[in-house]
Amino acid sequence: MAHLVQRLILFGIAAWALGQQAEIPKLKPFSHKTHLKLGNIAPVIAAAIDKGTYLSPPGDLRSRLNTNNPCLACHHGIDNSDGTSKSTFLAMADCLVCHNKVDPPISCGFCHARSST
Ligand code: HEC
Ligand code: HEC
Ligand code: HEC
Repeated sequence: MAHLVQRLILFGIAAWALGQQAEIPKLKPFSHKTHLKLGNIAPVIAAAIDKGTYLSPPGDLRSRLNTNNPCLACHHGIDNSDGTSKSTFLAMADCLVCHNKVDPPISCGFCHARSST
């Protein structure tokens, strides 16, 4: 428990610091091939919410994870979008369910391009 609280605090500070930037920090190239090999990961994210280890307020996300569509595990709510935008409907907390090392700024570079840390 103490460990989780510590991670939440670190995460909060780091997110606040990067949030001072005008834009969402750029992501490094991401492999769908690697991740889709894991199958539908929605239940993995749902389990983290249920256990209370999900690092962000889940809002109405939990009910939307009862899906068989593997894309919706990460691209939240894109099935209800009736337009297009550059947003890919992602939440960083999803990634941290598996990539759970929070040690800023080094750990941030696993996903974010260096210029953003
Ligand atoms: C593990 C999480 C995850 C899953 C599952 C996932 N995506 Fe993605 N998707 C991402 C990330 C991360 C990006 C990159 C966003 C960025 O670079 O800003 C992305 C980007 C995209 C893009 C933008 C174009 C591109 O290729 O860069 C499309 C289209 C896309 N995803 C479609 C899909 C489809 C279709 C599925 C299901 C077959 C899927 N995604 C499943 C995380 C995921
Ligand atoms: C269900 C668990 C899971 C989730 C959720 C997840 N990943 Fe991964 N990710 C993996 C596994 C397994 C690998 C392959 C082994 C490794 O390199 O750690 C991987 C590898 C990676 C890598 C290393 C390069 C590669 O593709 O092999 C990056 C970068 C990455 N993930 C980014 C992300 C991002 C960004 C998200 C959120 C949009 C995300 N991951 C969500 C399990 C996950
Ligand atoms: C495992 C992958 C991963 C790691 C590690 C990671 N991020 Fe992210 N981050 C993401 C993804 C995916 C997004 C969403 C990007 C989008 O919406 O296009 C994001 C978005 C953000 C945002 C924009 C606001 C938000 O929450 O969506 C900030 C700020 C941020 N990250 C800071 C950090 C910091 C600071 C660290 C290191 C403590 C970090 N990130 C580590 C994947 C990661």
